[in-house]
Amino acid sequence: MIIAIDGPAGAGKSTVCRILAEKLRFVYLDTGAMYRSVAWALSLDKTGLSGEEIADRLPRLPLVFILKDGALVILHNGEELTGQIRSMEIADEASRISRFEPVRSYLLNWQRKLGEQGDIVAEGRDTTTVVFPQAELKVFLTADLTSRVDRRRREYVLKGIDVSHDEMERRIRERDDADSKRALAPMRAAEDAIILDTSDLDIPQVVDILVEMAKDLKARG
Ligand code: DC
Repeated sequence: MIIAIDGPAGAGKSTVCRILAEKLRFVYLDTGAMYRSVAWALSLDKTGLSGEEIADRLPRLPLVFILKDGALVILHNGEELTGQIRSMEIADEASRISRFEPVRSYLLNWQRKLGEQGDIVAEGRDTTTVVFPQAELKVFLTADLTSRVDRRRREYVLKGIDVSHDEMERRIRERDDADSKRALAPMRAAEDAIILDTSDLDIPQVVDILVEMAKDLKARG
């Protein structure tokens, strides 16, 4: 079974998907981490690469994506990538490079291969529309801008990165704008996706709703 979850930055996707996958004993496929790892790996060479430069370097990137113990593991030259792809700069660069077709097809290929390996919760901005349109359950998680800014800010503060509300709001607005206006696989809810507004819900409540939806689907076969 594939559960695909889309939505804008700060809607709670990552936390919700991680817990949901644990509860259902599914694998959690964080596709945003895949874009971040490409952005990170490319930026070791040079930042702000053009589309042609990226296309040229992609086939030689020493990245490998595997599923291990219920999660995605990203290896670069055999070394696991973790915290280094979580900075704001890499998030911005991931958003920038995600508009290039070679990057999307490179990752789409990996994502579909990983999707064949069993029950997964796939999270990311085109998982319901492009990567897994056949997913049994498709959900577009959203929340109002203030809630999303507050949540993202809290995440960064917990990591020791201090960022003002205004700065976070500017970054989220820019990212929403770029992710939803790009020509290829823009962020949008699939027509048959369930739209879930999480502004007034906490994480356990959202997870509970999704667990019920998944159980319901399973019961109906
Ligand atoms: O979810 P995230 O913040 O880790 O994603 C980082 C960027 O990667 C996001 O701004 C756009 C891009 N992305 C994408 O284009 N498609 C996906 N399925 C996931 C992420």
